[in-house]
Amino acid sequence: MRVLITGISGFVGSTLASYLLGEQPGQPLEIHGAIHRADQRIHHLRDRLRLHKGDLRNPAWVDRVVELVRPALVFHLAAWSDVRASWDQPWAVYELNISCQLNLLEALRRHSPDAKVLAVASSEVYGLIDPSDIPIDEQTPLRPNSPYGISKVVQDLMAQQYWLNFGLHTVRVRSFNHIGPGQSDSFVASAFARQIAGIEHGLQEPVLKVGNLEAERDYTDVRDMVRAYWLALKCGEPGELFNIGSGTYFPVRHLLDILLDLSASEITVEQDPERLRPSEVPRIVCNPQHFARRTGWAPGISLRHSLTDVLHYWRGKTRIERENGTKAAPP
Ligand code: GDD
Repeated sequence: MRVLITGISGFVGSTLASYLLGEQPGQPLEIHGAIHRADQRIHHLRDRLRLHKGDLRNPAWVDRVVELVRPALVFHLAAWSDVRASWDQPWAVYELNISCQLNLLEALRRHSPDAKVLAVASSEVYGLIDPSDIPIDEQTPLRPNSPYGISKVVQDLMAQQYWLNFGLHTVRVRSFNHIGPGQSDSFVASAFARQIAGIEHGLQEPVLKVGNLEAERDYTDVRDMVRAYWLALKCGEPGELFNIGSGTYFPVRHLLDILLDLSASEITVEQDPERLRPSEVPRIVCNPQHFARRTGWAPGISLRHSLTDVLHYWRGKTRIERENGTKAAPP
């Protein structure tokens, strides 16, 4: 069975590729990936993947790839994912998130009309959550409060429209926060872990910069999340919508405390105004019951386990950076 993963070299795409190659039982999958630029994250898998390099914003290129691959399953993961940076470059976010998905769905409609397609939105579509809406289920009103959230509403509704108008088997997920090894340090767990690793290696002062520590979020490990994506596509009816998250929540401060506890270094914590946002919802918690009932999914990896792996990842990366830096330095 042919699978196409857009954004395969990204944090979630590479984790999904590993999962599908390694653990997924059943018929063998031929995995194709759309990539924009090469990335270390899939380096170790590249012999087992068929990669197509290009830009999803280019409709002619997307059409060629989809015509060539004619996938049975599509995981559309290529997207702008940084909420905070979306206020600085709103048009870039709209252009990327909307045009990539539009080009993909148009090409699928032409060349692979029977494909099952996973469209990935976000808890950010709910935006300004009323406390009475918590935990957030699929019926919660959409009140997006960031350019990123708006772009994800469009992706979500566009996927529904392609089902309603053209009968394309789209399945929609609204994912809550996910963390794990390989994530960029634009996101909170990696932002903290990277600084801790830098401090441990003596690359920065023992001062850890943070943003809002009071925000409460629902965290799922990325490895549980990609398993959820697989189940969503396997079990989802055309046009069906799933909220995916753990159903539990913690303040950002709790992540910080765990990470500091995992390090032996003496570290001072300091708030950095640059890391604060124009608008922030105090608490976001998923109600995953619909998804759990339909698929049997439940997360298996604890927050502490995730954070241990995130810190391990950044320690390894920082060690390599330091070694390279040392080698590159003049004698
Ligand atoms: N990034 C970051 N860096 N966030 C910080 C920091 C910091 O130094 N300090 C505190 N935070 C807080 C943010 O203000 C936010 O409340 C919370 O940590 C989580 O921020 P992020 O990890 O950046 O994630 P996000 O919630 O903005 O968005 C993520 O989750 C969405 C789903 O809920 C992204 O993965 C999105 O792409 C995804 O859709």
